[in-house]
Amino acid sequence: MSEPTLPDALRNELGRYNQLHLLTFWDSLSTSEKHQLLEQLQHIDFAMMHRLTTGSDYAPDWAQLAAKAQAPPAIRWNDTQARITPVAARQAGEEALRSGRVAMILAAGGQGTRLGFDHPKGLFPIAPLSERTLFEMHVDRLRAVGKKYGVKIPMLIMTSPATDQETREFFLRHNNLGLSPQELTIFCQGSMPAVDATNGKILLAGKSEIALSPDGHGGLLAALNRHSLLKQAAHQGIDYFFYAQVDNPLVPAADAELMGYHILARSEMTTQVVQKRFALEKVGNVVSIDGKVQIIEYSDLPSQFAEQTNPDGTLKLWAGNIAVHVFDVAFLRRVSEHADALPFHRAKKPVPHVAADGQSIQPVTPNAIKFERFIFDLLPLAEQAIAVEGDAREVFAPVKNANGAPTDTPAATQAALITLHSEWLKSAGCTIAPGVKVEIHPAWALDATEVQRRVEKPLLISSDTYFA
Ligand code: UD1
Repeated sequence: MSEPTLPDALRNELGRYNQLHLLTFWDSLSTSEKHQLLEQLQHIDFAMMHRLTTGSDYAPDWAQLAAKAQAPPAIRWNDTQARITPVAARQAGEEALRSGRVAMILAAGGQGTRLGFDHPKGLFPIAPLSERTLFEMHVDRLRAVGKKYGVKIPMLIMTSPATDQETREFFLRHNNLGLSPQELTIFCQGSMPAVDATNGKILLAGKSEIALSPDGHGGLLAALNRHSLLKQAAHQGIDYFFYAQVDNPLVPAADAELMGYHILARSEMTTQVVQKRFALEKVGNVVSIDGKVQIIEYSDLPSQFAEQTNPDGTLKLWAGNIAVHVFDVAFLRRVSEHADALPFHRAKKPVPHVAADGQSIQPVTPNAIKFERFIFDLLPLAEQAIAVEGDAREVFAPVKNANGAPTDTPAATQAALITLHSEWLKSAGCTIAPGVKVEIHPAWALDATEVQRRVEKPLLISSDTYFA
């Protein structure tokens, strides 16, 4: 490996944007370290970082927006007057699935940090009896849906630099969880530098390494382009992407009814929502502002707006984001022509770094700003966007926190899975002894109706049983 020279243009750019400190240790670096730093520097858009750090970018006044927020246009699950019936929706969705026009995208860039799990979250074993991982739960379900409609539904998994290698190794070790190489695409999202919160200077994680973090799930748009995946979708005849996050094993992968609502409503982006259980629940709020659907994150919604109620006492802003979306591929193609279609959100976080004197600093309080794009910020860009309500018991039990936390723990998710599968079996006439755990593999049954078909005569289930 030959010694790299630092291009003058790059040095000038660093000077122009007040980032020359990134070269503090350059002369003391080894050849390979110089290559590493140079490679990272060449991938940073310093002009954009300057815009972001000088504040001349996205800074919405959430309180002002929240004051105008209304409930979104939505198809409620108990609405008998809805202009699109569930039967019509299911038929339209099934047609799209059968004709191979649907693929799934799974956002899996997060590590299980809050969970206390030092691996990609997708590797977390969550199924109550089979102990299948989050990745297996999603893939098993998608394969079962594909089998039902006689097609292979492509699965696209978005990793981050922190989860990419381990995710690929996991799939390799497990024979792609039964997916053929044509059905599985693993691609990596981009990164953004973290900056010092006091002066906008990009932080060094090491003497030859920039402090980088994933660019948010909104990095999906750029990553799809970078990896030519929108072109690949066109080539495969894919018109719709079903999008979900890896942390929720109840995701109704490629759900026919949801797909059908999207298609029949001529929506460009559809988001599945659940009724919030209480005003300050930690989920994004799906709202309509000036006729455009958008999501206000729970941390940005002032409580007086979250707590507003209708005359009947129900929450005015009732629709909680579960991060399940359906996209028209054509819509993604259109918005991806504008590199800045999605704004960056800022989060103040403690970020370890190397100071100018070479000392390693491990802050305990937030010292830095990280920048992330959110995929749901595409909603207001859609010509037509709708929310479709799902039953939280059936579609939402995310794993976010370690056991012992008040919500969203593995124990809570497992309990939700057991309750749901117990209800399906009970609706088929089965009796389940108290305290007995059941789990249903999607290849055995995808929903209550399929369970009823499977169960020929009512069973008495008196010990833990995995139906697979
Ligand atoms: C997120 C939503 C929230 C919603 C909740 C439902 C955001 C900002 N908020 O909250 O509105 O109610 O989910 O569960 O999304 N991810 C990536 N790459 C990234 C960042 C995240 O792939 O760069 C993936 C993670 O793997 C994770 C998911 O996105 O599965 C959620 O991200 P996280 O930052 O944990 O958001 P939440 O606080 O869970």
